[in-house]
Amino acid sequence: PRVAVLMGGLSAEREVSLSTGRECARALREAGYDQVIEVDCGRDLPARLAEIQPDVCFNALHGRWGEDGVVQGLLEWMGIPYTHSGVLASALALDKEKTKTAYRAAGLPVVESLIATREEVEAAHVMPAPYVVKPVNEGSSVGIYIVREGSNAPRLATSMPAQVMVETYVPGRELTVTVMGDRALCVTDILTDGWYDYDAKYAPGGSRHVIPAELPAEITQACMDYALKAHQILGCRGISRTDFRWDETRGLAGLILLETNTQPGMTPTSLAPEQAAHMGVPFPQLCDWLVKDASC
Ligand code: DAL
Ligand code: MG
Repeated sequence: PRVAVLMGGLSAEREVSLSTGRECARALREAGYDQVIEVDCGRDLPARLAEIQPDVCFNALHGRWGEDGVVQGLLEWMGIPYTHSGVLASALALDKEKTKTAYRAAGLPVVESLIATREEVEAAHVMPAPYVVKPVNEGSSVGIYIVREGSNAPRLATSMPAQVMVETYVPGRELTVTVMGDRALCVTDILTDGWYDYDAKYAPGGSRHVIPAELPAEITQACMDYALKAHQILGCRGISRTDFRWDETRGLAGLILLETNTQPGMTPTSLAPEQAAHMGVPFPQLCDWLVKDASC
């Protein structure tokens, strides 16, 4: 089949997506696909797709327009099967606040958060510090502020949206679980010197991944169960990756879900491919599986 790998795009995670896309295209060729076309997605995407006429689109986009149901809607309209989640799951999961509503309804643990305007956030503390301020719909820790105890209300960059999410800061460990189809793969413990921010995520040596995470059996099991349930209730397809924080001083009660990524980073050293490899699915095989799982 002719596979168009959709990458780049218009979001703040454009560079991450170019990296994901290049690596997935390379892996698909390695898996034996001989018609792999790398497509940097601009506003002319519909015309490009009409011209290329792919049998399948491999979605390697991250963030707005690529991970939020928009490109998925276009592909549905054009009748082109695509990898990963469909319109509704994508739209739901990219909105961190709506995701929480769905998690809560399913009994999955989350921490308190609220939506506030930039002006409200800058005028005074909108919840007791420590808390985190973030856009509801960006990934890769773009535009995240941690407000510590004793500090002033934050000043936000002008690039921040008019409305932001403010969430109680949970100290502790950063854990993540990838779901592939109907199976939670394993738990990775992400170790950083400071905050797991954009640089820690993408600079070589910016973080260390302990895989499988060394955790009490009860916590490992809860992470696996919660990630699978999150994937299912959001209606995800293909792979997804759910991120957790765990305050180990509080046992199981200290484990909360942060978000589910429907387009997890897909370089071979990214978290999801690392987990697949750990479970015996090499990167080319993972990309091949995603193509075979594509639909519209
Ligand atoms: N948003 C980035 C790509 C991730 O979740 O892996
Ligand atoms: Mg994310």
